[in-house]
Parts: sequence; structure tokens; C-alpha cells
Amino acid sequence: MATSGMVFIGVALLLVASTSAQLNETFYAKSCPGGVQAVTNVITAAVHSDRRFAAALLRLHFHDCFVRGCDGSVLLASTPGSKAEKDAGPNLSLQGFGLIDQAKAALEKQCPGIFSCADILALAARDAISAIGGPKWRVFLGRRDGSISSATEAVQNLPADTLSYSGLIANFAKKGLNEADMVVLSGAHTIGLTHCSKVTPRLYNFPGGNGSDPYLNSTFVVAEKKLCPNTAAAQGNLIPMDGTNGGQTFDVNYYTNVLNHKAIFKSDDALVSTSSGRSKVTTLAGSKTIFFSAFGSAMEKMSKVGVLTGTQGKIRTVCSKK
Ligand code: HEM
Ligand SMILES: *[C@@H]1O[C@H](CO)[C@@H](O)[C@H](O)[C@H]1NC(C)=O
Ligand SMILES: *[C@@H]1O[C@H](CO)[C@@H](O)[C@H](O)[C@H]1NC(C)=O
Ligand SMILES: *[C@@H]1O[C@H](CO)[C@@H](O)[C@H](O)[C@H]1NC(C)=O
Ligand SMILES: *[C@@H]1O[C@H](CO)[C@@H](O)[C@H](O)[C@H]1NC(C)=O
Repeated sequence: MATSGMVFIGVALLLVASTSAQLNETFYAKSCPGGVQAVTNVITAAVHSDRRFAAALLRLHFHDCFVRGCDGSVLLASTPGSKAEKDAGPNLSLQGFGLIDQAKAALEKQCPGIFSCADILALAARDAISAIGGPKWRVFLGRRDGSISSATEAVQNLPADTLSYSGLIANFAKKGLNEADMVVLSGAHTIGLTHCSKVTPRLYNFPGGNGSDPYLNSTFVVAEKKLCPNTAAAQGNLIPMDGTNGGQTFDVNYYTNVLNHKAIFKSDDALVSTSSGRSKVTTLAGSKTIFFSAFGSAMEKMSKVGVLTGTQGKIRTVCSKK
């Protein structure tokens, strides 16, 4: 019967997909001993010299995984007639590219053609967050690199900062991540920067009102207005997303801000718009231990999304070139 045949094929495909995605922590133990350490050395030194790199590297890995899986495609350069992920609208954090290139160059000397760009991204995110005193999670290796990078797909797959709670859940569900993963991964916004253009509409031109979004704490609005004047020139200014402590420390402050109406995006506020979300945010705001351990587990899960393994994809020698 056609229907049961199709169901069978569907199940078979699921089995193939899940069994082929076998990453492990010792993937390079024989083929590139010292390779993992080489990445850690480059990233740790860079983050110690400038903590800003940590946010850039974390976001790069997130964007990589949400567009065609964690396949290093976020690193590919645009080609004539085809705009790559890195040139899509939501492309802050590109400072991280140089570091990935630096790590890749070291690896190509040590073990040419062996270590994937996608694995470097996954390790770099972990090492960067660990270097600023955040959680440290396991990185399973053996990803291979894709060769398609599309700005259109980036815009379609990355969550918009205007999404509601159910919109955020649906966006993460497409990547096999659940509601709890979504809430805890949003905690990444405890570090990093955003453009004033993302917040000025809420400060000066809130739709239906005359001025700022009444949801926001008014003391917070005053402080943000100082950082982001209502001028065209200021729209490109970068401000910390965790406005209450500078956005350089990996802590539970993001969740405290969300509870106190001091978060930047509507998508941040959305986390406390349902009782289920509010209860998760309250738990995370109350315990750094719980946040760190849940964030690490969710990162392990995110970094396996849609990976290419075995004979799929390839190992690029220059991460920006197919
Ligand atoms: C839940 C849905 C999410 C939305 C709507 C969202 C949206 C955004 C936006 C709009 C920015 C600022 C971009 C700009 O001003 O150019 C940003 C920055 C950032 N996001 Fe998210 N994001 C989400 C989830 C995540 C996740 C899951 C991670 C990582 C695990 C992450 C990590 C970051 C980091 C680290 C930055 C700062 C980058 C830097 O300072 O270089 N975000 N995000
Ligand atoms: C890790 O995966 C590779 C490739 O699938 C395999 O050769 C290696 O034996 C695995 N290592 C362990 C410890 O499972
Ligand atoms: C970021 O994207 C914009 C298009 O939205 C593009 O003009 C810009 O060059 C990109 N930035 C980098 C560093 O690639
Ligand atoms: C809106 O704000 C401006 C500037 O503060 C003020 O001049 C104007 O009267 C306000 N309009 C309304 C409808 O409240
Ligand atoms: C807004 O934040 C300030 C401290 O930054 C606090 O004193 C005040 O109570 C908050 N307002 C409301 C309505 O919660």
C-alpha cells in the first residue's frame, strides 16, 4: 500500500539520518593528535586579549548550526551572483572569522586536509565561553564541511527578535531543539552587543504610543536613551545586550533583566509571556549552577544539529572557500 510504503521509507530515512550522525570526542586522536589543543590555544589567547571575541565566536557557531546544520557554511564567502550567510542582514560578530582562519592555518600545517572548519567553530565556541569563566561543555567531533551558504536561507532560518514565545519554540523545533533548550540558549545574550537600530524603535517610536515601549522599565529606558540617541548617526552604535553589567560576563543577569523588563528584544520579553517560560526563566535567574549545566547540555545538543559526517561534505582547506 502506498501510504504504509511511504511511512516505511520515512522511518528508514530517520534511522539512516540518526545512525550516520556519529560524532565522538576523540575523532582526531589518531589523524590529528594535538589538533584540538591547537584550536584551544588560538582561541584562549585571543579571548584573553579581548573578551569581545567570546560573543562573536558563540554567535558564529549558533548561526552556523541554524542554517543547513553545523557544517561550517557560515564561514563561506559570497561568490558573484550568490550572497553567502555572512552577508545576510543579521551578521554581527564577524570579528570571529579571522580567529577561525588562524586556527585553520595552524591545523593545515599540523595535519593537512583533516580537520573540518565546522569542528573548529564548535570547539571555538566552547573554548571562548570557557575562557571568560562560562560553562565548559563536551564537543563531539567529526563534522564535515558543506559547500552551500545562502543569505536568503540565513534570514529564513535564524530567529527574528520580534518572535513570540510560540514563534521561538517553532523556530527551535525545526532544528530538533525543544522549549527548554530555547529558553536556556537564549541566555547566550548575557554577553555580546547589539546595534542601536535594534532598540531605538522601542525607545523613541514605539508603535501606537508616543515614545518608549511602556513594557520597559523606565530607568532602563533613560539609560538606553543615553547610549542610543535618536539620531541617524547613532543607529550603528553597538551597545551591550546585558545592559546592566556591560555584557562581558557569562552570568544569570540576562534572566534577571528579562524578569525586570530590562532586556533589549521583544523575543527576550517573550520568554516570560507564558507561565511555562516564566517558570523556566525564574529557575535560571536563581541559580548559576543550573544555568551553566543546562547551557552546556543545550550547546552539546545544538552543535549536533544537521551535521554532515562520514563521506558527506568535505574538509575545506581554507574555511572561506568551497
Ligand atoms: C532565541 C532567539 C534569538 C534571537 C531572536 C536572537 C537575536 C539576536 C540579535 C538581534 C542580536 C544582535 C544582532 C545585531 O545587533 O546585529 C543577537 C546577538 C547575539 N546573539 Fe542572539 N538571538 C537568539 C538566540 C541566540 C542563541 C541561541 C545564541 C547562542 C547560543 C545567541 C548568541 C548571540 C550572541 C553571542 C550575540 C552577540 C554577538 C556579538 O556581540 O558579537 N543568540 N542575537
Ligand atoms: C570516532 O569516530 C570515528 C569515525 O566514525 C571512528 O573511527 C573512531 O573509532 C570513533 N572513536 C570512538 C572512541 O568511538
Ligand atoms: C553584513 O551584511 C550587510 C548587508 O546587510 C553587508 O552590507 C555587510 O557587508 C556585511 N558585513 C560583513 C562584515 O560582511
Ligand atoms: C508626543 O511627544 C512629543 C515630544 O515629547 C510631544 O511634543 C507631543 O505633544 C506628543 N504627542 C502626543 C499625542 O502625546
Ligand atoms: C526600574 O529599575 C529601577 C532600578 O534600575 C528600580 O529602582 C525600579 O523599581 C524599577 N521599576 C519598576 C517599575 O520595577
